[in-house]
Amino acid sequence: MRRDTGQIFRLEDYRPTDFLIPELKLDFVLSPDATKVTAELTVERREGVAEDAPLVLDGDELRLTELLLDGEALPVERYEVSPDRLTIGALPKNGKFRLTIVTELNPADNEALMGLYRSSDVYCTQCEAEGFRRITYFLDRPDMLSVYTVRIEAGRGQAPILLSNGNLVESGELDGGRHYAVWHDPFPKPSYLFALVAGDLGSIKDGFTTASGKKVELGIYVEHGKEARAAYAMDALKRSMKWDEEVFGREYDLDVFNIVAVSDFNMGAMENKGLNIFNDKYVLADEDTATDVDFANIEAIIAHEYFHNWTGNRITCRDWFQLCLKEGLTVYRDHEFSADQRSRAVKRIAEVRTLRAQQFPEDQGPLAHPVRPRRYREINNFYTATVYEKGSEVARMIRTILGGELFRQGMNLYFERHDGEAATIEDFLKAFEDASGRDLSQFALWYHQAGTPNLTITTSHDKAAKEFVMEIEQSVPPTPSESRKRLMHIPLSFGLVGKDGNDIEVGAVDGATVEDGVLHVRKRKHTVRFEGVAERPVVSLNRGFSAPITLSFAQKPQDLLFLARHDGDLFSRWQALNTLFTEALIKAFRGIRGQKTSEFDPALVEQAGLTAADGELEPAYRALALTLPSEADIAREIGSNIDPDATFAAREALSIAIGKAHGEKFSSLYRELDGCASFNPDAASAGRRALRNVLLDYVSVAGDDPEPAARQFAGATNMTDRAAALMILAHRFAGSTEAKQALADFEERYSDNPLVLDKWFQIQATAPGAGTVDVVRSLMSHKAFSLANPNRVRSLIGTFATANQTGFNRADGEGYRFFAEIVLAVEKRNPQVAARLATALRSWRSLEPVRQAAAREALLSIAAQPDLSSDLRDIVERTLA
Ligand code: TRP
Ligand code: ZN
Repeated sequence: MRRDTGQIFRLEDYRPTDFLIPELKLDFVLSPDATKVTAELTVERREGVAEDAPLVLDGDELRLTELLLDGEALPVERYEVSPDRLTIGALPKNGKFRLTIVTELNPADNEALMGLYRSSDVYCTQCEAEGFRRITYFLDRPDMLSVYTVRIEAGRGQAPILLSNGNLVESGELDGGRHYAVWHDPFPKPSYLFALVAGDLGSIKDGFTTASGKKVELGIYVEHGKEARAAYAMDALKRSMKWDEEVFGREYDLDVFNIVAVSDFNMGAMENKGLNIFNDKYVLADEDTATDVDFANIEAIIAHEYFHNWTGNRITCRDWFQLCLKEGLTVYRDHEFSADQRSRAVKRIAEVRTLRAQQFPEDQGPLAHPVRPRRYREINNFYTATVYEKGSEVARMIRTILGGELFRQGMNLYFERHDGEAATIEDFLKAFEDASGRDLSQFALWYHQAGTPNLTITTSHDKAAKEFVMEIEQSVPPTPSESRKRLMHIPLSFGLVGKDGNDIEVGAVDGATVEDGVLHVRKRKHTVRFEGVAERPVVSLNRGFSAPITLSFAQKPQDLLFLARHDGDLFSRWQALNTLFTEALIKAFRGIRGQKTSEFDPALVEQAGLTAADGELEPAYRALALTLPSEADIAREIGSNIDPDATFAAREALSIAIGKAHGEKFSSLYRELDGCASFNPDAASAGRRALRNVLLDYVSVAGDDPEPAARQFAGATNMTDRAAALMILAHRFAGSTEAKQALADFEERYSDNPLVLDKWFQIQATAPGAGTVDVVRSLMSHKAFSLANPNRVRSLIGTFATANQTGFNRADGEGYRFFAEIVLAVEKRNPQVAARLATALRSWRSLEPVRQAAAREALLSIAAQPDLSSDLRDIVERTLA
């Protein structure tokens, strides 16, 4: 593994390479433990570079077996080689030459899952960010664009399928039962987009004709026998291709587009040019094995990787500091796609919940960094919620500020200007400035400054003067190494809601620019005066979550209730109820800590019932509205001195109060939503299932009765209903006969399907209470579990640490000790997965003192290990700093 060297990479140190590699020929002779890779690089010294400049190529754990310059073996004194570097001096005076590099790899041994590795007997690659250097010595950086020709040779029996980027140009038989294929990708690309797949795979094929009439062959490759489970992914792919033409004017550009699903994969999926490789979790689905959430994730990730073809591949990143140029923008594009395919309001609420759950704690903790970081020690650790999700919010804000028309023109200009290039955030912003004539220099701080901005709001109404005044004050909290923050440009969407529930038409406004319902906050303080406001309005702020900020606004409970009933913006209507829930839960938390019992406001409990039964709202929306803030949400709002047992108890109490108040109503609603004979994964059907399952949870907790969930489990005809019922049984009725029976049935039914058993692992790992540590430890010896498979590790260990507040944060520290031990065991095989796992401890400072000390001990025990990987050392040291 790549050991930590302490080296820090800085944005300001960027400089172009001395050499270009316009062409690269790769030849793979595949064998599980001795694969021979011959790389032929056409090299050109860049103009103006000194003749004696050496060529320094990156490597990582490589073994060089041959090196030729212009076809002649290079004598050993002409170069220096180590596993991680190849330096060649005294190069031809004219600066043009051909370099042939032969390396030998052991893919079967590669458990880091970067470079060339084996997954279930299939050869596959993962090169982003710096995996290509584990295949051959190269200028392994995103601004080095080359045209690739790839020849793959393997035994036909073991690997009848041979795939790489671009178009297939040649294939044939060889002696000894071997065969080969040659792929050529005409689009110059960086090495991180290279991919190869070889193995015995099944496939489904389809086709797509682009707007300009080009025919594209589509293929999805999966393990034999799983072909039928790829149908939904194929459908999502075709819809993505169509949508990108319609909404962004982007067509596909090669003759083929292939997707391969593999079961050992470090992340979700990878956008290799013309050959996307996926974690099979995000390809395989049918009603018996996948939940509605799985279907939605597949649709979103298929779209995401496909959209990278333009935002990432045709226009790539100059350096890894610009990662959000492709990731933030592509997440924004996949969000918009899902919003168009499903329900915009429901999608927006789900996005914001994810942002708050994942990105806010990052921004508010020791790992905070700007959307475009300025320094890193290990780039693998910057595939973060900040780069992806906040990056997407920043793209969305550009659209909000410019409006749809100018945003589209800016995007078009960006595509025109930078197609075929490796670009920067500055290039991206310049395209919008030039297309719109607007100055985005203050707005650019969203890329450069870490931390979640806060707006403090106070309002007043002067009836006589018919004036409504809103005082706004912005602040950005300090983050590591950025103690002083500059003022941001925050687009705040809002409405003033009148007594009848409709927005008031506002007259003249003074104190800030307001355009199309968006107030532009740019200064520290704004006093905004709205004229012609006869009655006191209820203000609805940050509609649609127009900016990724927090609000400090002591809005009256009756105003929030009013918004929860009437806000014309459905996001804000959801937000109003959610804020009321959060406030009630914080109050309950404090009551529990102070050993006082408190009652919940009956008006709030009543509103939950009204929302549940409101037939004007989609079921999916009602399901989200009735989902209480999570324990982590409550903890984040409280901020410090967290006792997870108390946040848990507070949430339980509110669940019970709502469930008891509406027992009959919820039961009958639950029954009414029942009965849809044939399964449909569409958003409307999924929404009905979501609402039904939320109701089942309330009914179960209020009645303190496992029977309804046991009945649903037994009769379930799809995974959504089955998994939801199992979760209720295992969490709320742990140890009951019903729970034990259901867990055993599920295990038996899916014993040969590890992806489905992941759900079984997850459900058990998230069961609340101090006893879960032992359950998780013993599940590690289950025959389906493997420390080498990232999906298994994330399902059992990852969810335990991130989604089990009471179990993981046991007061005696046993959860943390266990976790540290497993992180170190995973690191031995796969540092990238171990480092990501370790981020579960990032909020340790917000815990109460006893747990805080125990969590710190666990972090220190990791940090004390000698020879940590750069991945884990980086996370642990920043977390402790
Ligand atoms: N670029 C990929 C995406 O967002 C994610 C990715 C980055 C990745 N590094 C990876 C995937 C390593 C797997 C392994 O679409
Ligand atoms: Zn991506």
